[in-house]
Amino acid sequence: MTTAAPSPSTPTRVAVLVGSLRAESVNRRIAESLRDQAPSGVEVQIVDGLAALPFYNEDIDGDAAPAPAVELRSAVAGADRVLVVTPEYNGTMPAVLNNAIDWLSRPFGQGAISGKPFAVIGATPTPYGGKWAHEDARRSAGIAGAVVLDQVVVSQSTIDTDVLGDPQVFGRLRDALGALVDHQVEAA
Ligand SMILES: Cc1cc2nc3c(=O)[nH]c(=O)nc-3n(C[C@H](O)[C@H](O)[C@H](O)COP(=O)(O)O)c2cc1C
Repeated sequence: MTTAAPSPSTPTRVAVLVGSLRAESVNRRIAESLRDQAPSGVEVQIVDGLAALPFYNEDIDGDAAPAPAVELRSAVAGADRVLVVTPEYNGTMPAVLNNAIDWLSRPFGQGAISGKPFAVIGATPTPYGGKWAHEDARRSAGIAGAVVLDQVVVSQSTIDTDVLGDPQVFGRLRDALGALVDHQVEAA
């Protein structure tokens, strides 16, 4: 049985994890533009505080988990969808994003990301647009229990491209958010 995405009267909340901490991050600007231009009925929340997350360590997890981890889990648990917007570092996802997924994956089987429809987009200044990072983030989130949407991934090269200024290019990124929001959630 399937149920529709939340009805128009109930906003669909999308938690966005940005894989770059850089102040001038292109990926952060993509996330901010998607938030600022979100369609009606969609609330996009960029989850801040990933830099304050300690590296995942089972010794510090549990009832007294660190505040940044509690805040991250709460933001994602309260969302209907999760979107990652990330560059690629050394052929994979940046450590800050990997660490966030690790925190979201525990308790095992009941992590905040578990059961959440999940998609990845991002941009890098190479011809491949960060596709290995995007593949790895999708695989990792899937193992953590997220519902990774098969077709919803955009790995955008920024070479000779104004990602935010080119309507076709930005349109593809916006369409990915739309497809994530429109995904039909399987009823329990
Ligand atoms: C440590 C490091 C490793 C990188 N490795 C890759 C890589 O493997 N593939 C790639 O496409 N870009 C790589 N880049 C370039 C980033 O994609 C580029 O800096 C990008 O603009 C970062 O995104 P941002 O603007 O959102 O910070 C790397 C950058 C850094 C700092």
